Amino acid sequence: MEKKKLRIGVIGCGTVGGSVIRSLKLNRQALKKKTGIDISVVKAFDKDKNRQKEFPSIFTSSAEDIVNAPEIDIVVELIGGVDYAHGIVTRALKNGKSVVTANKALIAEKVKEIFGLAEEKNLYMGFEASVAGAIPAIKTIRESFIGNNISRILAILNGTTNYILTRMSLDRLDFSEALSTAQEMGYAEANSTLDIKGIDTAHKLSILSGLAFNKFVHWKQIPVEGIEKVEPIDIGFTAEFGYRVKLLAVAQKKDNTLDLRVHPALLPMKHLLSMVEGVYNAVYIEGDMAGKSLFYGEGAGGGAAASAVVADIVDICKEIAQKNLPCSTLLYEDEKLTTVSMEDIYTRYYLRFTALDKPGVLAGISGILGKNGISIASVIQKEESPEKAVPVLILTHRAKEKSMRDAISEIDKLAFIKKPTVLLRVEE
Ligand code: HSE
Repeated sequence: MEKKKLRIGVIGCGTVGGSVIRSLKLNRQALKKKTGIDISVVKAFDKDKNRQKEFPSIFTSSAEDIVNAPEIDIVVELIGGVDYAHGIVTRALKNGKSVVTANKALIAEKVKEIFGLAEEKNLYMGFEASVAGAIPAIKTIRESFIGNNISRILAILNGTTNYILTRMSLDRLDFSEALSTAQEMGYAEANSTLDIKGIDTAHKLSILSGLAFNKFVHWKQIPVEGIEKVEPIDIGFTAEFGYRVKLLAVAQKKDNTLDLRVHPALLPMKHLLSMVEGVYNAVYIEGDMAGKSLFYGEGAGGGAAASAVVADIVDICKEIAQKNLPCSTLLYEDEKLTTVSMEDIYTRYYLRFTALDKPGVLAGISGILGKNGISIASVIQKEESPEKAVPVLILTHRAKEKSMRDAISEIDKLAFIKKPTVLLRVEE
């Protein structure tokens, strides 16, 4: 039976939830004209009672009141975190309600349970806002590129870290100043270590991998390095080599292997992803038919995430109003595909040694690199007083990660090396 009036319940009225409620109210008539469906938010809940001031007529006393309300068609979960949110989403689906969420940690942790239940119940799960904010990355991969064999994704998926790296690079801000500004602007997670340590990016990469390669790899199985070890000095030196440092999500499929990783990487300054600054995200995709595409937009913040949440709500309303399709997203797995271990990847490296400025130092370093099959592409050494340790900067040709780790561990034991070597990988 056609439904021309659909009712939404929103759980979590913070930066994103507040924007969703305001947008649906403001655009109610316009959306009705565009879709023929009257979409209204009829209940909202937040554990912070101060938030009811803005929405007193729809504010309710508990999340359960929304999950159990017979009149509600779609539950929007915007509280974040895994366990409590999982309970909400599960109960909503069991009660016959489709769900929209922005919660990447939840999808990354519970994909099989949630999508399995949605499919069993013939309901919809919208999760566009979980990856890359306002950029329709999920829709693009799942719908627009469905006929492509995707071989590569390179992406900047975390607005907070991109904002920090940009401010450190362009404005010479230190790390903590840049982080506090990002937090004030509402980009960061409640626990900003998820951003800084690359975990938020790994959650998002895990979701994209499931969609692009039909290989859902749990984020804990993805090698992850955050930006906490990137020092201003490296941002300066890498610029001298002609590179920018970005926290990159890398996914590359070759034959039946999949190389997934998250780490700070050097990108040539002329690379399009190098120009993605501030809170912006970008997703670069290579497909066998579409070729190379780049999607760019705001990756964090209330408005950007709300834009994607509202799009999901409207899509689901259109499906409910016209026909019911099963929710099979992310359930099909490609059994042939295996993931590449981090030790087996090949890439170029930027190395910053902190070494005494005396005879034999370069020979010692290059000897060990050479013994491990690593070829040097460029070298810079900054002169200081002879008794002080100086930065020795090396850019290598492509080498195997395992050989690089063996070489660095041997080099770091040399008497003239005064600090652990900084290693950053180059993506081109
Ligand atoms: N903390 C996330 C970011 C929010 O900075 O990108 C959007 O997922």
